[in-house]
Amino acid sequence: MRGLVRAGSPRAAALAALGAEAAPGDLKDAASVEAACRGATTVISTATSTASRRGGDSLETVDRTGQLTLVEAARRAGVRRFVYVSVSPNLPADNPLVRYKREVEAALRASGLGWTILQPSCLMEVWFSPAVGWDVAAGKVRVYGRGDAPISYISIGDVAELAVLAATRPEVEGRVLPLGGPAPVSQLEAVRIFEEAAGRRLKVQHLPVPVIRALSLLIRPFDPITSSLMALGAAVAGGDAIAMGTLLREFPVGLVSVHDFARTLRADVDAPRRRA
Ligand SMILES: NC(=O)c1ccc[n+]([C@@H]2O[C@H](COP(=O)([O-])OP(=O)(O)OC[C@H]3O[C@@H](n4cnc5c(N)ncnc54)[C@H](OP(=O)(O)O)[C@@H]3O)[C@@H](O)[C@H]2O)c1
Repeated sequence: MRGLVRAGSPRAAALAALGAEAAPGDLKDAASVEAACRGATTVISTATSTASRRGGDSLETVDRTGQLTLVEAARRAGVRRFVYVSVSPNLPADNPLVRYKREVEAALRASGLGWTILQPSCLMEVWFSPAVGWDVAAGKVRVYGRGDAPISYISIGDVAELAVLAATRPEVEGRVLPLGGPAPVSQLEAVRIFEEAAGRRLKVQHLPVPVIRALSLLIRPFDPITSSLMALGAAVAGGDAIAMGTLLREFPVGLVSVHDFARTLRADVDAPRRRA
């Protein structure tokens, strides 16, 4: 097992602990990508510039060109299966991030490689975090739009488990797999679940969809990443439900629910208190 790792990546130690060999490189550096693919049978690509960025990283250089470079390098190296982590099929391609994701999906399908495309809904670890204004520790959460539309929040660990499945099972080759949690939950239902787990009321701030859309368009020329993330916020305000029944009958994975996730956060919050 080998992981493409940038020098100084905070994830390098975790990869090493898993027993993965580090292939130093960067998606913007074609030679390093070629070297990382040499001798590989399977590639799983999750990289994105949306949160973890360095100089020169952008949606254009990483999420588009970098991913296309990786697909081409994998093809040349004779890789047998390429698993690409994209985004939910429900998201409109009205912003650069989703447009590039769909472009890479199309390139992969046309590449001649064996492929599986994963299309996860909102990751719990991201959408229930202060990074998007969901700050349970501070007692306040941000809700996109009215907050009453169902969203199939999924935990990162479950996407990882399904990615391994996609990399190893012949029956998922050539398939696009939309991924969600065990049951869709609206943002307001999630607020109630977190309130119950935290044992306290949370202050809810609603961001009106027309305002998010207008801001997204306004900042697009000089900040395509924030603009795209706002467009995603506006899109999920309208819901992002993904039916998992058929896939779960085929592959019975025990998916983490929003209740489970909120309870884990409670355990994390309580742990320092218990230690004190
Ligand atoms: N957030 C969501 O709700 C959501 C929903 C659906 C799909 N997804 C997709 O799921 C995937 C994982 O998302 P995430 O939130 O877990 O991402 P993340 O934590 O921000 O991780 C992104 C990774 O990409 C790497 N990376 C960035 N630029 C790179 C470059 N130039 N060369 C090589 N590696 C580079 C980063 O490396 P360093 O460690 O060196 O910084 C980091 O390890 C992404 O493809 C995302 O689009 C996310």
